[in-house]
Amino acid sequence: MTQVKAEAKTDVPVNIYRPKNPYVGKCVSNEELVGEGGIGTVRHITFDISGGDLRYLEGQSIGIIPEGTDANGKPHKLRLYSIGSTRHGDHCDGKTVSLCVRQLEYKHPETGETVYGVCSTYLNKMQVGDDVKITGPVGKEMLLPDDPNANVIMLATGTGIAPFRAFLWRMFKENAGEQPLNPDYNFKGNAWLIFGVPTSPNILYKEELEELQRSYPDHFRLTYAISREQQNPEGGRMYIQHRVAEYAEELWKLIQQENTHTYICGLKGMEGGIDEALGAVAAKDGVDWSEYQRNMKKAHRWHVETY
Ligand code: FAD
Ligand code: A2P
Repeated sequence: MTQVKAEAKTDVPVNIYRPKNPYVGKCVSNEELVGEGGIGTVRHITFDISGGDLRYLEGQSIGIIPEGTDANGKPHKLRLYSIGSTRHGDHCDGKTVSLCVRQLEYKHPETGETVYGVCSTYLNKMQVGDDVKITGPVGKEMLLPDDPNANVIMLATGTGIAPFRAFLWRMFKENAGEQPLNPDYNFKGNAWLIFGVPTSPNILYKEELEELQRSYPDHFRLTYAISREQQNPEGGRMYIQHRVAEYAEELWKLIQQENTHTYICGLKGMEGGIDEALGAVAAKDGVDWSEYQRNMKKAHRWHVETY
């Protein structure tokens, strides 16, 4: 495989604010994204960052330091969250940053008690006007290629949609008005999002995504894997890797084009299944998937952020 030139990413802002001296932003909105009958709670939370020097690019993350102390009486450590807005923010004025946060909730393995995650609960319950300590931004793994003709394959589970929402806004929404926000990035490539969620009401940003698909059918393809409503060919839950297997021939053809970038974000557990599906189709052409993938990583064409 010929190696494509790595993108020029010299001006990527990192660690403008560190944990010892975080930026104190303000919550300007906090909205539920899970519809009636869906599982759990996931919020779209927007912070005002207009008072400082915080800048970021699509695909980066920020750290949040929750209020309070841990079991040892020490201040809580930061947690990372993928940014869900473009560098211009949801209001296109460069004054905000948005996150997409699922409240962690699980049964304690010994006591059976319901446990709620510290930072995700802090964020989920945040009120408009509350202060929030922000660090970062961090991350160079999930940046979009500068090439407006690139093919961009996005594989997400749950809140893994966050960076892809930012990508899609940058590709399609920000240039749609009278005054394009990204005159140097007039996306004319192919974007394909394969999105795994448990139930239909859990399709985060459903209206936005489907509106984009209707408006840009030649440039944006949207495929869902709704695990608890759809079945895979073996009769089990439909996961994203089953969709990858279903479209393996098409994906493999696309992936072999040098201007194709693949991004994976969300649950770590999906990676093995995706490799298996693409490994099988690559093997039909006598290609060793692990080696192929290694080369794509070196060429900055295979991007993974799982947690
Ligand atoms: P904590 O209070 O820190 O609890 C977490 C701990 O609970 C775990 O370490 C584990 O010990 C325990 N635990 C968790 N589940 C179970 C279980 N089922 N059984 C037993 N014990 C368990 N999250 C988002 O919602 N949206 C994002 O966009 C996002 N982006 C991320 C990007 C990156 C790069 C990374 C690294 C993580 C991202 N996360 C995201 C996850 C986020 O950082 C936090 O880990 C998450 O919100 C939980 O933090 P918490 O403080 O609520 O949980
Ligand atoms: P399920 O929970 O039905 O087993 P959310 O973050 O909103 O819970 O969505 C995560 C989605 O990813 C769910 O549909 C979940 O399915 C699915 N999922 C869980 N484990 C895996 C895995 N190992 N590989 C791919 N998808 C997974």
